[in-house]
Amino acid sequence: MAYTAVITGATKGIGRAITQLFASKGFHLAITARTEKDLQSLAAELRKTYPTIEVIAKTTDLSERAQLTAFMELVNNSWPQVDVLINNAGIFLQGELLNEAESHLDQMMQVNLHAPYHLCRGFIPKMQAAGKGHVFNICSVASKKVFPGSGAYATTKFALLGFTKALRQELLASPIKVTAVLPGATWTASWEGATIPEERLMPPSDIAQAIWDVWQLSPRTVVEELVLRPQAGDL
Ligand SMILES: NC(=O)c1ccc[n+]([C@@H]2O[C@H](COP(=O)([O-])OP(=O)(O)OC[C@H]3O[C@@H](n4cnc5c(N)ncnc54)[C@H](OP(=O)(O)O)[C@@H]3O)[C@@H](O)[C@H]2O)c1
Repeated sequence: MAYTAVITGATKGIGRAITQLFASKGFHLAITARTEKDLQSLAAELRKTYPTIEVIAKTTDLSERAQLTAFMELVNNSWPQVDVLINNAGIFLQGELLNEAESHLDQMMQVNLHAPYHLCRGFIPKMQAAGKGHVFNICSVASKKVFPGSGAYATTKFALLGFTKALRQELLASPIKVTAVLPGATWTASWEGATIPEERLMPPSDIAQAIWDVWQLSPRTVVEELVLRPQAGDL
């Protein structure tokens, strides 16, 4: 069987670039996002361009536990192995901790931290049984530095980096690799409406390429943290 990858938030931005690159390399893909139309049109495009790959596309709101579990069960029942899990889906709600809607932190925690936690618990046992696997958690430069107007987001991304480090520590004695990816400003839908020129930000294809390069290293080496920034630095 070809290699398999599970990619969340596959329809836009960084997730879409990763999906397209892994599809072009012949991976079978399990992809998810909330918007049915976007997900099915991406799945159709992938099946047409890469007729040999299998695409599992299931609309899922990862903040809903029952939906997340249904997606996981579908993948686990369809495939004997999961080689790569890319926890990419994430949301950013601007605000200040003391003034924003109280729900901000919970909403972002569910997608940015709880979903990767549950997906890791659902897929890593399969990797352990196969004796191989690689988890990429898409954190952020905001996992290490707090930017103005993003206190709750930074809280969730610091937590995701902490979770990733703890997972790496627990899997040290196993062949399963764990990589925290920390991108800086990347040109995606999240930046729509901003007055900054596209050229100032990183293209999502560069994040995808870096993940691919890390995946290709020998079983003897893991990249624990991959930090990427625009050439001119943070915004
Ligand atoms: N862009 C940046 O500058 C930047 C910088 C650092 C880190 N990051 C991180 O990189 C990741 C991707 O960012 P991006 O800018 O590419 O995001 P994006 O363009 O906003 O795309 C987000 C993707 O996640 C899906 N998604 C959102 N909420 C979801 C949910 N509850 N359940 C399932 N899918 C959901 C979206 O589809 P639907 O809306 O249809 O659900 C979409 O496919 C995020 O974790 C983000 O925090 C981004």
